[in-house]
Parts: sequence; structure tokens; C-alpha cells
Amino acid sequence: MIDKIKELIAEAEAFTAQTKEEVEAFRIQYLGKKGLLNQYFAEFKNVANEQKKEFGQAVNTLKKAAEDKVNTLKEELESKEEVKGVYGDLSRPGEPVNLGARHPISIVKNQIIDIFSNIGFNVSEGPEIEDDWHNFTALNLPEYHPARDMQDTFFIQTNPDVLLRTHTSSVQVRYMEKNQPPIRTISPGRVYRNEAISARSHCFFHQIEGLYIDKEVSFADLKQTLQYFTTQLFGKSKIRLRPSYFPFTEPSAEIDVYWGLETESDYRITKGTGWLEIGGCGMVDPNVLENCKIDSKEYSGFAFGVGIDRIAMLLHQINDIRLLSENDVRFLEQFKSAL
Ligand code: PHE
Repeated sequence: MIDKIKELIAEAEAFTAQTKEEVEAFRIQYLGKKGLLNQYFAEFKNVANEQKKEFGQAVNTLKKAAEDKVNTLKEELESKEEVKGVYGDLSRPGEPVNLGARHPISIVKNQIIDIFSNIGFNVSEGPEIEDDWHNFTALNLPEYHPARDMQDTFFIQTNPDVLLRTHTSSVQVRYMEKNQPPIRTISPGRVYRNEAISARSHCFFHQIEGLYIDKEVSFADLKQTLQYFTTQLFGKSKIRLRPSYFPFTEPSAEIDVYWGLETESDYRITKGTGWLEIGGCGMVDPNVLENCKIDSKEYSGFAFGVGIDRIAMLLHQINDIRLLSENDVRFLEQFKSAL
């Protein structure tokens, strides 16, 4: 009988199971009410005295072996289940992680920020919901000034003092109110105008505006800075400043870049002239400086503003401005390899 018990010990130690049910069947077989162990314990009284000790030890070893086996198998199976719960089937082939791409507006914005931070400009931001003072009045556009019509404004109906900013020039006002010269800052952001939506224009778009205020800042400094900018961004160093009008700058100019007339698309985007308008600029009007508590006798400065959307369309051959706000993944995915 002792040999039989020793066999059972070896069997119990060698036992393996894949499921909880198998473990339970094993437990019942060995440790259950009518299981092997209880049968052997009942047998104890029939064992000859001189064998009692050896028999007892063998039965106890079997009991321990069976109990240990049940416990370890249970633990093993439970931890396997846990792993499955968190990670699923670990032997499954991996799924590729779909990496996102930066939005072309962000790519171009970051490029422009880099270019200007290299020459000492910091970045400033302001609210998209503005008040009349920062968007218009401080910028030399008093109430009833006809130039207010240059930019079709979205007003908040219940309060004409609250509007969606029409340009990032409002950030310059905020910056000058808080900082005294020397000032070198660029302000990127979204702006809003009540315009019909088409492939070329949208009711919201993005601008980046630069402001430089110090002693003896001249128009030549403005031109040089813009030329540095277009050379860095487009690799084009030929620019032209066409006289224009903005209420907040005097004199004012439109910035044209000479794009060239080498390819068919050069003809298309420059309308056959070779020149491409990218924004406006000028010397900050002394009234604006005074409105922002900067002494216009001591300081002068220049400002410029360019449209990020148009530049992104140009640099990435995007032919419809609406694509920039539709969030179509098939469009956005194409910018994975960009910065
Ligand atoms: N704020 C002007 C616009 O939105 C652009 C501009 C900025 C012009 C700075 C001159 C100086 O049209």
C-alpha cells in the first residue's frame, strides 16, 4: 500500500492542468470528501502498528503534494488570466501604431517661429475673442473710421464691444501695453473675418505678425528683416514693398516676393507676373505707440503680418484652403514626413 501511495505522490507532483476545471477535478480526486486521502486516513486504523509511522508519513506527504499542486496550478492559471485581461493574447502578432502628423498650419507656424527666434524675436499670444480697443481703436481705427470696413468683423451680437479678432495686430497692442521697448516679438494665431468661403478664402485663417520697437528703427531695417525671412522660408531673396495703406502703420506697404516664372505653376500662382503677395507691413504709426504708452519721440518701430494658410498652401501644394480645416485624415496623413 505504501508503494501505491509513493506512486500517487509522484503522479501528483507531475500533474499539470490547462484549465481551472482540470485543477478542480484533481482536487476532488485527491482532497475531496471521498477522495484518495480520506480513504487512506480511514485505512490508518487497519495498518499494522510497526508500519503506522511510515504509512502516516507517506499519507501526509501525499496530502502536502496534492495541496501544493492545487495551489500552484490555481495561481498560475489566475495570473495567466490577468495577463490576458490586460494585454489580450500575448502571442498575437503586433499591431502597427498609427503615428499622427503635424498639421500643415503648425508646421509652417513653427518654421516661421524658428526663423524669427534666430534673430531674437520671442513669441506672444493673445485672445481670439477681443474687445474693440485692442482690435481697432488702439490701432488708430477710431469708431466710424471707414477703414474698419476693410475687415468684415464678426461681432458678438449682444455686445458690440466684443468681437472675434480680425487680425493678430491686437496682440501687438496687448504686448506693448505690458512691455516697454526694446520689443521684438512675433504673434501667431487664428483670426476671423466675415467672408464668403471658397477655395481661396475662409472665414477663419491664421496670421503671424511681427513687431520691432526700439530707438532709431528704420524702414531699411524692416526691408532687411523681411528679406531675411523670405530667404529663409522660401529660398527667395528678391522682395518688393508696394505702397499701401493700413491705419496702424505709416508708411505702409504690401510685401511681394519674386517667385520667378520658371514652371507652369509659377505662372499660375503669380498670375503670370512672377510676383506673389504674402502680407502687409509698415512703420508703426506714432499714434499707436502713444495709445500703448510708448514715447513716440524716443522710439520707432515696424510691424508686418503674413497669412500662414496661404504660405502653407504654397509650400505644400494645397489647392483649397478648406482642406486645412476639414480634418480629413487622408489629407492630414500626407504631412507625416514634414517637420
Ligand atoms: N493686420 C494687417 C492685416 O491683417 C496686416 C498688417 C500687420 C499690416 C502689420 C501692417 C502691419 O491685414
